[in-house]
Amino acid sequence: WNRRPISVWRYREILPVTIPPVTLQEGGTPLYHLERLGAEMGLPHLYAKHEGMNPTGSFKDRGMTVGVSMAVQLGMKSVACASTGNTSASLAAYAAKGGIPAVVLLPAGKVALGKVAQALMHGAKVIAVRGNFDRSLEMVRDLCLKHGIYLLNSVNPYRLEGQKTIGFEAVDQLGDVPDRLVLPVGNAGNISAVYKGLRELETLGFIDRLPMMTGIQAAGSQPLVQAIQGSLPAVVPEANPETVATAIRIGAPVNGEKALIAIRETGGTAASVTDEEILAMQRDLAQKEGIGVEPASAASVAGIKKLVEEGRIDRDERIVCVVTGHLLKDPETVIRQCPPPIEIDATEQALLSVLHLSS
Ligand code: F0G
Repeated sequence: WNRRPISVWRYREILPVTIPPVTLQEGGTPLYHLERLGAEMGLPHLYAKHEGMNPTGSFKDRGMTVGVSMAVQLGMKSVACASTGNTSASLAAYAAKGGIPAVVLLPAGKVALGKVAQALMHGAKVIAVRGNFDRSLEMVRDLCLKHGIYLLNSVNPYRLEGQKTIGFEAVDQLGDVPDRLVLPVGNAGNISAVYKGLRELETLGFIDRLPMMTGIQAAGSQPLVQAIQGSLPAVVPEANPETVATAIRIGAPVNGEKALIAIRETGGTAASVTDEEILAMQRDLAQKEGIGVEPASAASVAGIKKLVEEGRIDRDERIVCVVTGHLLKDPETVIRQCPPPIEIDATEQALLSVLHLSS
């Protein structure tokens, strides 16, 4: 066990699949020490686990290798999901690998370009719903129930089984349990999955404590944060979620109650960050650490920056931020933020001139 490479299937004994899995070699993503950003924030032990390094560029691949394998194991003939983009890209790829047709419902006009491109190219039937993600999820749940299609949103428990391996890998790579694990929260599946997995490791006796589970949402879409800060017994949906981080533009997180348990039982917390803070951190990660992530992913690190500035966390903590998806997922948001390339005539003189060099 200890000699197996770090990946989702390293942990196969505590995953539900018993057939040869449908795999694209997911997991085993890098854990980076954020030396420069950590120093700036006064956090010497700040790490990022780069889930954008998965086969389709997001953590969803961990859930889909298990979820699509289970669909095959259970003899399902077709699969479906609603998605803010990454789940659909991942489902499309794994359904292709598994040889089953996939249907994906996307909120029309609200999905980043790279994700739509992936879902289309991997051959899913891509449907753009004139409505938001929450409505798309309602529709696909209904469709699957009535027509025997296998639903692969995070209401499917097998998806979460795959995603729990993020926590296992973080512990293995750090060599210890981090004090705090920070995740961007949309539908709240991932934070619930990671908590569940670490609870299992604790029950099995592999670890003796849990990290403080910390969820970060966008200010325009923060029902979980409101429930935590208001000590509410349940998450109250947000009717009109809005944020530049379209991946987490979700008002009614289906796993909200599980996330409340994860945060409360571990002494964790939840916080929100503005779109400006998200984009500033996306640039900082790219330019100070060489880590390219999409906006939703930058939310976890932006949230830690805010929490430390507000004095809500201890500077000595060992903190692992999960950065969930790759920079190339959302090229349009990148292009909108950065100055355009400097176009020049094809001469040495023009080149030297823009670089302020003399010949
Ligand atoms: N980060 C990214 C890049 C995501 O795509 C998502 C969710 C999250 C964070 C939040 O994870 O929903 O488990 O709390 N994306 C889903 C999708 C909703 O359809 O791709 P969560």
